[in-house]
Amino acid sequence: MGFVANTLRLNAEAQTAPLLSVDDLTVSFPTKGGGHNAVVTGLSYQIAQSETLGVVGESGCGKTMTSLSLMGLVPGRGRVTGRIGFEGRDLLQQSEKQWRDLRGREVAMIFQEPMTAMNPVMSVGQQIAEVLKVHEGLGQRDSLDRAIDLLKAVGIPSPAQRARDFPHQLSGGMRQRAMIAMALACRPKLLVADEPTTALDVTIQAQILDLIIELQEETGMAVQFITHNLAVVSELAHKILVMYAGRGVEYATSEQLFDQPLHPYTQGLIQTLPDPDRKVDRLHVIHGSLRVQPAQGCRFASRCPLASDECRAAEPILREVAPGHFVACVKVN
Ligand SMILES: Nc1ncnc2c1ncn2[C@@H]1O[C@H](COP(=O)(O)OP(=O)(O)OP(=O)(O)O)[C@@H](O)[C@H]1O
Ligand code: SF4
Ligand SMILES: [Mg+2]
Repeated sequence: MGFVANTLRLNAEAQTAPLLSVDDLTVSFPTKGGGHNAVVTGLSYQIAQSETLGVVGESGCGKTMTSLSLMGLVPGRGRVTGRIGFEGRDLLQQSEKQWRDLRGREVAMIFQEPMTAMNPVMSVGQQIAEVLKVHEGLGQRDSLDRAIDLLKAVGIPSPAQRARDFPHQLSGGMRQRAMIAMALACRPKLLVADEPTTALDVTIQAQILDLIIELQEETGMAVQFITHNLAVVSELAHKILVMYAGRGVEYATSEQLFDQPLHPYTQGLIQTLPDPDRKVDRLHVIHGSLRVQPAQGCRFASRCPLASDECRAAEPILREVAPGHFVACVKVN
């Protein structure tokens, strides 16, 4: 879908309250010294019905922790604060029982690692069928038929036979596709997709992205799509949130972000995209590492070509610099 169509749809959706509204989300883990280490800090964004938000940023910047917060699945002693509004409810105030009703049916997630989401001792077809039985009230025959249809839709050959396999009998790529089928089975209101296609070959990737878009058009599903690959989100996302070291550093419509990236980190990411018109296909690299972070000031300063003393004085937070375009950089007016 083109940018213009995306934007028109975005504007139409903006009239209504967003389906998901994340405010000041922080995820932290206890440290050995008795303190807390925040891996996501003060994140705020919204997703409307029928809208796709792309979340991009390099490894370790907090994309998965943000997604797991939406599912009530932050591991271990992780502490989540802020507010996650979903259809008027605050997801951070849900009981475990309320979460069980919500997960899979209203909010579903495609995990980065498929085995975490699958039952190792139940056939793949039966697992999908169980979801359909519980949430859609289908009988055994109908739910299994639907499960086979879904396996076919995610590009699994001989789906009726594969449905009888257990997860460990499938290759990694097949398991990933089976998990996507399971997440889509209940037509959730919000789909959280964490790097769903990275491990798959290009044809299957395209097929799965098409399937997500098709289902979104049919059901009005909202999607949070996580990836480190900006090229993938450009195809799919209406809005994009760029994360760096646990913070949102730029948040805008896809059109704004690609036409006028404002944060130096985003500008660097866009330059890493292969340009079909460039004769010498040499990729621009953002030097440095996420691990080198200052005690105060802008977290990107050690890698930023524009950094100066001003940047190290206080941490910039997201502010709206044009309608709907937010950036966290002291040099942007
Ligand atoms: N169980 C945990 N306890 C403490 N820290 C954790 C735990 N799980 C993850 N982290 C830390 O949280 C930070 C964010 O991790 P997260 O998995 O959200 O990153 P990501 O952006 O999804 O990275 P990737 O692109 O590699 O998947 C990382 O620094 C990671 O080391
Ligand atoms: S605040 Fe300074 S260091 Fe940070 S991104 Fe902007 S220019 Fe670079
Ligand atoms: Mg991750």
